[in-house]
Amino acid sequence: MVNISVYLSQSLVPDELTLKDKNVVVVDVLRASSTILTALVNGAKEVIPAESVSVAARISKGLGNSVLCGERNGKVIEGFKLGNSPFEYSNEIVKAKSLIFSTTNGTVAIAKSKFAKTCVLASFLNLSAVVEHLFALNEDFTIVCSGKLNDYCVEDSVYAGLIISKLFEKNTKANYTLFDSGYVCYQLAKNLIYKNAKPDQHRILNMFKKSEHGKYLISLGFEKDLEYCSQIDTFKNLPAFKNNIVKLQESFDSEATEKSKMKRINITNKSGNAKNE
Ligand code: MLT
Repeated sequence: MVNISVYLSQSLVPDELTLKDKNVVVVDVLRASSTILTALVNGAKEVIPAESVSVAARISKGLGNSVLCGERNGKVIEGFKLGNSPFEYSNEIVKAKSLIFSTTNGTVAIAKSKFAKTCVLASFLNLSAVVEHLFALNEDFTIVCSGKLNDYCVEDSVYAGLIISKLFEKNTKANYTLFDSGYVCYQLAKNLIYKNAKPDQHRILNMFKKSEHGKYLISLGFEKDLEYCSQIDTFKNLPAFKNNIVKLQESFDSEATEKSKMKRINITNKSGNAKNE
């Protein structure tokens, strides 16, 4: 039996120890998890989440080829180079760079997952990659909705419900245990974004436009961001958070393969040297 827990806002996660040794999925569809995924797919070396502006500034001092990124109240932070719109993160701008990222809710949720067993970042843009990961994992997991200003937000809850719904579609419901928050999210997803038994991009966009944060982003001129973030499965990639850094899972995997190759070479060299001595 797989237990699915859902926090409707990161503010409901009391501290970093709450998520220790758990499998975590961080959701901030508008916009941090969508933007971080875009930046990594476009060639950023890594994203370093910072809970606060001062922490971000401190990290950047000791780090070459880095860029300060993020937002407060949806707008680029004073003195930072980039904000939180996915359109700012083109290959020309982010290629091979370490992005130090601080946002109002999203990066706080990520930072709270630093002792998690596994942690991945989820958005509509990589829905199937997230669902496949959880399906293959086949262990209890916790969805942390970033929410808005220490409160609940509809778009992250609907997305949490969509993950649950997609898992139910792959397997028998009987394999999963849902608690009240997950059950509410599941019903919300079914009611707000499904059409003809499938999640529908127009309905997602409509839900965004009716949400508080969506309306606020439109008022700042970011209507295009809503459209972009409402797309399903644009990418197959899965950003993972490990050792305080977010990278695509495939980068972590190839680094691990490289390390074990180097280890094997060292062992072979040592035993070769031993023979020659
Ligand atoms: C956040 O972390 O609160 C959001 O990503 C805000 C935003 O849309 O910029």
